[in-house]
Amino acid sequence: MCAKEKKHKHNTDHITYKGLLDGNKKFIKNALKSDPDYFKKLATQNPPVLWIGCADSRVPANQITNTNPGEIFVHRNIANMVIHTDMSMLSVLDYAVNVLHVRHVIVTGHYGCGGVIAAMSNQEFGLIDNWLRHIKDIYRVHEKELDKIKDEGKRCDRLVELNVIENVYNLCKTSIVQNAWKTGQPLEVHGWVYSISTGIITDMEVSTSNNDKLDDVFKFK
Ligand code: CO
Repeated sequence: MCAKEKKHKHNTDHITYKGLLDGNKKFIKNALKSDPDYFKKLATQNPPVLWIGCADSRVPANQITNTNPGEIFVHRNIANMVIHTDMSMLSVLDYAVNVLHVRHVIVTGHYGCGGVIAAMSNQEFGLIDNWLRHIKDIYRVHEKELDKIKDEGKRCDRLVELNVIENVYNLCKTSIVQNAWKTGQPLEVHGWVYSISTGIITDMEVSTSNNDKLDDVFKFK
């Protein structure tokens, strides 16, 4: 287990089903107070960014980038993965690139990711093991580097980073992204890791707008 993960349990007992609907009323009131045209302006969307992030409740795309509704198109799953047989992810990516014409796709992981911690262990969790298998495959590819890191927390942090980097490459391997590049559509892919304990986003510096870094077999001509 990553040492950082659980120390304080965030008390959410005050969150009730009815409270969410009451919260919605407050949201509408505040939004209209700040801008009477708030909802009119959101009649259409033109987000420049697609975010592929973890489903973790502590990593909401808009809040941590100080952006608003309408500004980031979002897809989230367990451990922010780009799996080429995942129809949900592919549909989001296709729509974002070919209809919305986003200029950036960002894979955002986070330290202390429960999915990565689980994948690093030898415990069986059930159905989710099939999803986490993709992270175990990443571990295998980077086994030499990872096994050298004796501290389990640090090893987990590095696997979080490698998982982001590999999933950026997975994006580059899709025909959707490669076709955009082939036709000269401006599109950059990026990898970030967010720290829940500090709020800081670290750029993994794997940003690219071409398929140069891919093994030859993945390049569509
Ligand atoms: Co996570």
